[in-house]
Formats: sequence, C-alpha cells, structure tokens
Amino acid sequence: MGRKNIKIGLFGFGCVGFGLYEALQKTPSLKTNIKRICVKTKNKQRPILNEHFTFDKNEILFDNEINTVVELIDDADAAFEIVKTALQNGKAVVTANKKMIAEHFTELLDLQKKHNVPLLYEAACCASIPIIRNLEEYYDNDLLESIEGIVNGSTNYILTNTSLKNISYNEALKEAQEKGYAETNPLLDVAGFDAKYKLIILIAHAFGIVTSPENVFNIGIDKLGELELNYAKEKGYKIKLIAFAEKKEDGKIVSFVLPKFINKNDKLHSIDDVFNAVKTKSYFSDTQFFIGKGAGAYPTASAVLSDISALTFDYRYEYKKLNNVDSLENDNKVFLKILLRYDLNSIDELKDYFIELNESYQNFNSGYIIGVISLKRLKFVSTISNISVVLFDVVKQVEFVNKRNLNKSLEVA
Ligand SMILES: NC(=O)c1ccc[n+]([C@@H]2O[C@H](COP(=O)([O-])OP(=O)(O)OC[C@H]3O[C@@H](n4cnc5c(N)ncnc54)[C@H](OP(=O)(O)O)[C@@H]3O)[C@@H](O)[C@H]2O)c1
Repeated sequence: MGRKNIKIGLFGFGCVGFGLYEALQKTPSLKTNIKRICVKTKNKQRPILNEHFTFDKNEILFDNEINTVVELIDDADAAFEIVKTALQNGKAVVTANKKMIAEHFTELLDLQKKHNVPLLYEAACCASIPIIRNLEEYYDNDLLESIEGIVNGSTNYILTNTSLKNISYNEALKEAQEKGYAETNPLLDVAGFDAKYKLIILIAHAFGIVTSPENVFNIGIDKLGELELNYAKEKGYKIKLIAFAEKKEDGKIVSFVLPKFINKNDKLHSIDDVFNAVKTKSYFSDTQFFIGKGAGAYPTASAVLSDISALTFDYRYEYKKLNNVDSLENDNKVFLKILLRYDLNSIDELKDYFIELNESYQNFNSGYIIGVISLKRLKFVSTISNISVVLFDVVKQVEFVNKRNLNKSLEVA
C-alpha cells in the first residue's frame, strides 16, 4: 500500500504543527498536501487563513481522501483516540507524542497489525536524531548492550543555563517554554516523565521489550539544589538528566531516568542547551554516539517530515526484536552509587538503606549521603521522603560478603 500521493489531515498547529507546515512549504518535492488542520481553540489568531482549520476531528478521521494523519497535539488522551480511529480507518499515522505511545504501546502495536497500517514516531524520541530508525534498521542484528542518553531538550537547556549562565531555575524554565522546547505541563519535563516515555520507546526498539511507565523509575531535575550543583562544579562534573537502559548477561534489562554526574571524559559532558545525545554500546560496533537538537519547531518537524517521506516508500517499523522473551531486571539486583540529599523532616536512618557508605554529612536542616543503594530501596525512599538524587554510576558488581544493613526491617515490599 504505497502512499505515493500523501494527503494529510493534520492535528495540532502549535510549535511543531506550524513548524511542519512551514517545512512542507519548503519541501515541494515531497508532493504532499495538507487537506485540513484540526485544532482545539476557537477564535484564536492563526498564522494562516481560517479556511484551513476545523474543530471537528471527524472531518479528518472520516475523510476518505485523507490517507495520512499527522498527530501533533499536546493532549495524550485525546491523541490516543485520534490515532486509534485513524488506524482503524486505514490511515497511516505519524505522531510525535511519546506519552501517548508509552502509555498505549501494546494497543498501538495491535492496531497496526490488525489494520495493516504504519504508525511512525521518529519525532517522539530526541526530535531531530534519527534514533528509532537506527535501532530498527542498523541495529537489526547487532547485539545491543546499552543505551544511555540525554533525551529531553528542555531539562538540558535548564541545567546548562542554571549552571553555566547562573540564571535561576525558574528563569531557565521560562526561557525553555518561550523557545517552544518545553511540554505544556512542565512537570512532564522536569520530573523526568518525558524522558521516561522516550526511554520506553527506545527499549522497545533496542531490545524488543514493551514495558509501561509504572515499571521504569524516574527522578527529574526539579528537586536539585545548591549542594549538588556546587558539588558538581567543584569536581568538574556537569549534571545531566540521563535515560539509561542496559541488557545484562542474563538478558534482563536495567532501566531508569536519573540526574547523573557526568565527568569531562564522557562524551555527554559537552552536550549542552537543547541538544540531545544517545550513546549506544553493542557487541560488534562498540560505542556509537548520536547528537542533534532534541526540541523546537524545526528540529522536531524534520523528524515528522522524514516519517512522512518514509511513507511514500511504504516504510513501517517491523519490530523484529519484539518476540524477545527478556524482561526487566529485578530492582533488588540493580545497585546505584548516588549522592542523596535530604532534609531533616525526612525519615530517620536513611543511611541504613545504603549497602555501602562512602561519605555523609548533616547540619541543622539537611544532610547528604554518598553511597551504594539498590534501585528497589531508592524507589522506596523516594516515596516516603523529600530527597534529591544524583547518580554517579551503576555499580556493576556488589560484593555482598559483608552485607551491610540487610536486616529484615529494611526489606521494602
Ligand atoms: N515542542 C517540542 O519541541 C516537541 C518536541 C518533540 C515532540 N513534541 C511533541 O509534539 C506534540 C505537540 O507539541 P507542541 O509543542 O507543538 O504543542 P503546542 O505548541 O502546545 O500545540 C498544541 C496544539 O495542539 C492543539 N490541540 C490540543 N488538543 C487538541 C485536540 N483535542 N484536538 C485538536 N487539536 C488539539 C492545540 O490547538 P489550539 O491551537 O487550538 O490551542 C495546538 O495547536 C506533543 O505531543 C509534544 O510532546 C514536541
């Protein structure tokens, strides 16, 4: 079912939607045509004539002439209903909505299969970096071992500007919003949810495992304070929000989103502002590194444009690795060396949750601990106390000859 003549029904005309509109104007060779654009707010000033718009999604979804739906709205629930109906009606879909994909992965896979239509979403991960297609095609047979990356442009912009330019967190967030880098709900970015949704998509294409948002732990940058930022400066580190997934020898996947101290020798150290980067490590090709703008109208539109173009030669994701029987690693077997800062209203004896203690300090209102903790305990501690966490690294092997503090009372459910 080649789509030589793409007739688009576009949902959303905000940052990315308008960016795509302009990009298509500059790409006449693509021979596409936007038939109609569906938006939400009536009486809003638009940069093009009102006759192009509708407020009724069915005018697109049930228009037989439209063979391709491009979904670029900022409401994941409404987006799922739109995408579902479009696929059911035999329309190819291109979307940038990682929240929608991560929350409905299995249903979206089923819909593609049942209705034999492609759903492409390169823009949903790292905007301009063609990472999904690389994971699908290039790493088709290669034995991927890990993916680690800065996958959220607005948090990287905020971290860069607060640490290098000394502007406040709120000012940097406001700038990121003004530049169109931030999600409508900023908590999705700063609390690490957006990065987690992207990681879920990456895990599916890298390792063939479909998991859901509640299974992947995330801590964002919203709790970071002076202590961690100064600690990073003193040691020559930068703090970056990292999405991480690694396949262990037994096939189990370790995954999380956490702020991490990045040292100067790490390629991620130089990735600043709205840039994203992904490091892949695989058995044959060793380490590879992808860099590109991770947000903004044109960088995101470029990925959408590439997906639209791919539809003309009938491209679809084949999800070749999906039969993989591997699963997520037990959180009890994942060990992280972290800096954990807490305030004194937090639970007592936080130290007891650590398996190894390297450093600790406490004054009249707060304290910090550097040491090794299991992911399971970190999850637990983060739900019952007000903490900020920065990762040093995943600890490959913890020798439990002298198991510290593994007494029963601390075993968390
Ligand atoms: N911004 C980025 O850098 C970036 C990067 C990668 C991916 N994305 C993803 O791209 C998508 C769009 O983001 P954006 O930044 O372009 O958002 P945005 O600037 O806030 O624009 C959202 C658009 O969606 C429309 N809309 C909202 N709910 C709708 C509904 N139920 N039916 C029809 N239209 C609806 C809005 O209509 P009105 O104009 O009437 O308000 C608006 O035109 C999101 O999924 C986002 O996660 C964004």
